[in-house]
Amino acid sequence: MAYKITVLGTGYVGLVCGVGLADFGNSVICTDIDEQKIALLQKDIIPIYEPGLEEYFRRNRQEGRLSFEPDVAKAIREGNIIFIAVGTPPRDDGSVDLTYFEEAVKTIARESETSKIVVIKSTVPVGTARSVEKMLKSLNSSASFSVVSNPEFLREGKAVYDFFHPDKVVVGTEEESAREIMRKIYRPLYLLGTPFIFCGFETAELIKYANNSFLAMKVTFINQIANLCDAVGADVDTVARALGMDGRIGPKFLHPGPGFGGSCFPKDTKALVQIGRKYGVDMSLIREVISANENQKRIVIEKLRKLLGNLTGKIICVLGLAFKAETDDVRESPALDIIRLLLAEKVYLHVHDPKAMENARKILGGTVFYFEDMYEAMRGCDALLILTEWNAYRNLNLERAYQELRGRIILDARNVLDPVLAKEAGFVYEGIGRR
Ligand code: UGA
Repeated sequence: MAYKITVLGTGYVGLVCGVGLADFGNSVICTDIDEQKIALLQKDIIPIYEPGLEEYFRRNRQEGRLSFEPDVAKAIREGNIIFIAVGTPPRDDGSVDLTYFEEAVKTIARESETSKIVVIKSTVPVGTARSVEKMLKSLNSSASFSVVSNPEFLREGKAVYDFFHPDKVVVGTEEESAREIMRKIYRPLYLLGTPFIFCGFETAELIKYANNSFLAMKVTFINQIANLCDAVGADVDTVARALGMDGRIGPKFLHPGPGFGGSCFPKDTKALVQIGRKYGVDMSLIREVISANENQKRIVIEKLRKLLGNLTGKIICVLGLAFKAETDDVRESPALDIIRLLLAEKVYLHVHDPKAMENARKILGGTVFYFEDMYEAMRGCDALLILTEWNAYRNLNLERAYQELRGRIILDARNVLDPVLAKEAGFVYEGIGRR
């Protein structure tokens, strides 16, 4: 049986889940409090850049399984399974801002007349699913609700692939009937043999924070090892390759860089520290990860200073603004933090990014010079600084770069270029932890 699913929130997670669940044969209505976003989606305009999404979007639109509804209350009334995928941004103290989330829960309580399954996709603090269950029951005693914690492990830029090929599906619920329905919604994955982890609310919620924090720790670990490689003259690429060959460690998330960013790792590591504080449990390891990650951005500045001397008045070409490749997202992007640090040193910046310029412009405004063409961005600059690992930068034409730049200095903070080729082309090349 196909279910009628309503997805609240059309950000990266909500939209990809909505499209993916429709592709599994379910009938899906997506809604959002941002009516402008829904208006665009109704016109088949996808407001985010996510590789591969368009194809699935069009197919499911054409086959009539995917619709968009600006009236949130109406969308809730129409679905029997409600996925909450609204934003849960961080507050200044690291705790999670549940304003949108709680608003969504209240609307579900208000608009539900029959029984509903409420699936929590948004990343929420441990204990939230249990309080949502209580809240729904106390606000509406006539309808019956089953709550499920179903955390998401999609990576931006690879979200569509990840949706259809997850390593696992985590289903936290206390009710067998809800478990059965989740199996049915995700039937194609179940049939493919994707592991399903059925557990309680708190376990499911903690899996999400532990997963992201562990990966953030892995990235921070290799960043610190890379810094040590620089100091002792070792090569981090070789160290990381060797580490990755140990099956207990694994090769992924061992690429050093300017620090992790995005809408998830920075927020979730801080939230885990907060959760530990709330329950009186020591989370000092993750606290150190957060502070080492901040420091990594300053290390990039110090490297530049070593290469250029006094930075004041220098013109630097920055390639890459997104927090990683294959996304237009600049939330918590290390590139923007590094740009801010450089601006504070009165450096002039020429910036380029294949997808994230528009979003970066909303934040940086007129403080930097924007270029559509990366070689034009390099013209007359004292150095080139690579901050996002886009393929376009991996395939940089070094001869052309040599002609455009005034100073033949490259600081490759993502280790995307071949150091030997860069040196052969006449550059002073510096990566992160590379010999
Ligand atoms: C992350 C998780 O990987 C997803 O599983 C999870 O679903 C998502 O958060 C979320 O909670 O919604 P995402 O933020 O899209 O996904 O990005 P990642 O690919 O994990 O990268 C995070 C940051 O770490 C980026 O800034 C990236 O450049 C950096 N990174 C990653 C490195 O510096 N080195 C690496 O080896 C890997």
